[in-house]
Amino acid sequence: MKIKGRSRTSIWANEGRRTVTIIDQTLLPFALGELELTSAAQVGEAIRAMRVRGAPLIGVTAAYGVAMAMQLDSTDGNLQETCAALRTTRPTAVNLAWALDRMARLITRLPEPDRADAAWAWANAIAAEDVATNEAIGRNGLKLIEDLHQQHHRKINILTHCNAGWLAAVDWGTALAPIYAAHDAGMDVHVWVEETRPRNQGLLTAWELREHGVPHTYIVDNAGGYFMQQGDVDIVIVGADRVSRTGDVANKIGTYLKALAARDNGIPFYAAVPSSTIDWQLHDAMKEIDIEERSADEIRMLRGQSSEGLTRDFRLLDDASAVANPGFDITPARLVTGIITEAGIAAPDGLAALFHKN
Ligand code: MRU
Repeated sequence: MKIKGRSRTSIWANEGRRTVTIIDQTLLPFALGELELTSAAQVGEAIRAMRVRGAPLIGVTAAYGVAMAMQLDSTDGNLQETCAALRTTRPTAVNLAWALDRMARLITRLPEPDRADAAWAWANAIAAEDVATNEAIGRNGLKLIEDLHQQHHRKINILTHCNAGWLAAVDWGTALAPIYAAHDAGMDVHVWVEETRPRNQGLLTAWELREHGVPHTYIVDNAGGYFMQQGDVDIVIVGADRVSRTGDVANKIGTYLKALAARDNGIPFYAAVPSSTIDWQLHDAMKEIDIEERSADEIRMLRGQSSEGLTRDFRLLDDASAVANPGFDITPARLVTGIITEAGIAAPDGLAALFHKN
C-alpha cells in the first residue's frame, strides 16, 4: 500500500546481509521509523514489544528470525531453541506457531550445510505468500462491498476494530484488503475506525487509510454501537488472531461487543483471515485459546504527543487500583456472518468444506 504515494511494505528483506528491516510500529503515528533486525533475539524482542504486530506479520517476522538463526548455527539444537523462544513471544495469534512449525518441518528435512540458504528462501516465500494471500482476501471481500453498493447506490460505510491493515501483514492486510480493493476500484467507501484501547491500534488504521487516501472517521470504541443504531454502518469487517474450524473468532479485545451490536442491528459481521489464522486443531475456542494478558501499564499509561511535538507517556491511573488487560476476546461463531479467506467466503460452519478438511 502507499505512503505519500510510494508503495511500501511493513517488512522487507536485506538480501545481501540476510537481515530484515521493519517499520517500528511503536513509533507510529507520531513518527515513521525503520529498524533493522539482525538476529532471532532481536526478532523476538520486536514481536514482544509490538514493534511488529498483527497475526500475519508476527508469523512472517518469526520465519525470518528462524532463518537468521540458521545463518549462524544450523544444528537441530539451535533450531529447536530458536523456535521455542520465538513461540513464547505472543501466545494468541496462531500464525506465529504456524510459521515456526512450517520452517522447522522444512529445515529438519535437510542436511545442515543446506539449511541456511533454504531457510532464508523459505522465509522469503512465506512473506511473498502473505502478500498474495491478502490480495486474494481483498478480491473476495470486494464482492461484499460491491453487493452493498448495488443494493444501496450510495457510499458504503464499513466499521473496523484494531488494525488489520497492511501494517499487520506484509502488504494489503486482511480486514482492510477489501476496503483498499474497493477504494482502488473507484468505489465510494468510508471507514469507521475504532480507537481500540488500550494500545490504540486504531491510530495505525487511521494513519494507513490517510496515507492511502481512503476516507475514514476515527471514533472511540464505545461509539461503534451508536453509529450502528443510526444506520451509519453497512458492514463490520475485522481481522483475527485465531479462528476455530467451526468459525469462532479470537481477535482484539472489544471485537465481541461489536459483533453483539452488529447482530442487534441486523448488520453483517465478517472476519477476514488468511488460512494460516485457522487453527484446525481447536475443539473449544473458549477453553483452548490462550488469551494474552498484557502489561498493566498499557492501561495505566497513555502515549501521546505533547504541545512541543514530543512523543510522551502520560499517567492516567496510579497503582492503587488493580487493572486487568486481556488482549483478545472470542466472538462465537453464531454472531459471525462469514469468514473472508483467500479461498473464498464461507459461513462459519463452512470453513472445513472450503479448505477440504475432514
Ligand atoms: O495485539 P495486536 O495489535 O497484534 O492485535 C492485532 C489484531 O487483533 C488484529 O486484528 C489481528 O492480528 C489480525 S491482523 C491482520
